[in-house]
Amino acid sequence: MTMMRKLHLSVGVLALSSGMATAQEVEVLHWWTSGGEAAAVGTLRDTLAEGGITWQDMPVAGGGGSDAMTVLRARVTAGNPPTAVQMLGFSIQDWAAEGALANLDDLAAEQGWGDVVPEALQAFSTYDGSWVAAPVNVHSTNWVWANTAVMADLGLEQPESWDDFVAAMQAAQDAGLTALAHGGQAWQDATMFDSMVMGVGGPEFYQASMVDLDPDALGSDTMVEVFQRMETLRGFVDDNFSGRDWNLATAMVINGDALFQIMGDWAKGEFVAAGMTAGEEFTCFRVPGTEGTVTFNSDQFAMFNVSDASAQEAQMAMASAVLSPEFQVTFNLVKGSVPARTDIDSSDFDMCGQMGMAQLAEAAEAGGLFGSMAHGHANTPSVQNAMYDVITAHFNGEFDAETAAAEMVTAVELAQ
Ligand code: BGC
Repeated sequence: MTMMRKLHLSVGVLALSSGMATAQEVEVLHWWTSGGEAAAVGTLRDTLAEGGITWQDMPVAGGGGSDAMTVLRARVTAGNPPTAVQMLGFSIQDWAAEGALANLDDLAAEQGWGDVVPEALQAFSTYDGSWVAAPVNVHSTNWVWANTAVMADLGLEQPESWDDFVAAMQAAQDAGLTALAHGGQAWQDATMFDSMVMGVGGPEFYQASMVDLDPDALGSDTMVEVFQRMETLRGFVDDNFSGRDWNLATAMVINGDALFQIMGDWAKGEFVAAGMTAGEEFTCFRVPGTEGTVTFNSDQFAMFNVSDASAQEAQMAMASAVLSPEFQVTFNLVKGSVPARTDIDSSDFDMCGQMGMAQLAEAAEAGGLFGSMAHGHANTPSVQNAMYDVITAHFNGEFDAETAAAEMVTAVELAQ
């Protein structure tokens, strides 16, 4: 029996057993709009269609989901929430605290989610001891993506240290290439910042500054150095970086116009969609200085409280499909992320996926697993947005590194 067929049956059985009488539909708000992301959405839409559930699409572009969350707030305020919403970390907790999310406990108990979803994810999928979201993946932000032909042309090996990394970018720039493909949007600046904080300060500093929001850490000399590294990166982006979408930056690496991109592993989805293979036409490695650690984010689907019985059934069928082992493989191969379950064999995954799975488990074991600030897993949305503002203002030359560190202290204090 094929994977799809098995899934079809399990979703179908769920629909039947709950007495499906009318056509079921889910309206899904998400920010998966790039080529690779759209392909991943397609796997979910097709899986649900096989179970008789229609997908109504509500895409709102923008990594990190800030724009999607603004649209969501407006929809809920108007009394018309979507049935299912892609959500990250602390946003899930905020909506659960408002009592807006459906309780998934019965399904979770029936399917044993508690035994297979990693604890770091459960911290966000559950609120007050109850399941309120179904995780579909684990992404991480401390990756570099590279075009292997460009590396070979420049005579470069994989950089092993920050200095090596800078020297490699210098070689690309000297050869007339864009050294670092980047899009100047606040969430993309923040995505690189995650790795600079970890790379300069290490896990304890990441915890103190990004998670505990310790003013001494936020305003420290270490933080000044973090901003100085951001300035180094700024020196390697091209003149047209401002406002560029992340997937267009990935395309620069794919096309051989740029050497590296620092981005979460959703970038892998673009390489895969372009027909490239990890370890052959492209490669991935951890941002030098962050090896042994993983700054993660997990896309989860939260189901908003709706009164219509058929919509509720569709929500449960969707949550069930999202966490099924077969679907976790199908989806994550396309998305670039790794499964949100610990019981999935990695043999179907490519080199980057296998590294991602192994490193996630190792980091969790060794105390090196931390929520990504850029993607809503280190602190609340209001603190995150305050950090975004300082990071972006600095990246665009409004503050020097010392001022930026001082501004972090003030902005975070005001946002709490
Ligand atoms: C999400 C990813 C998404 C990326 C870029 C992140 O916040 O977790 O699923 O691909 O943004 O849109």
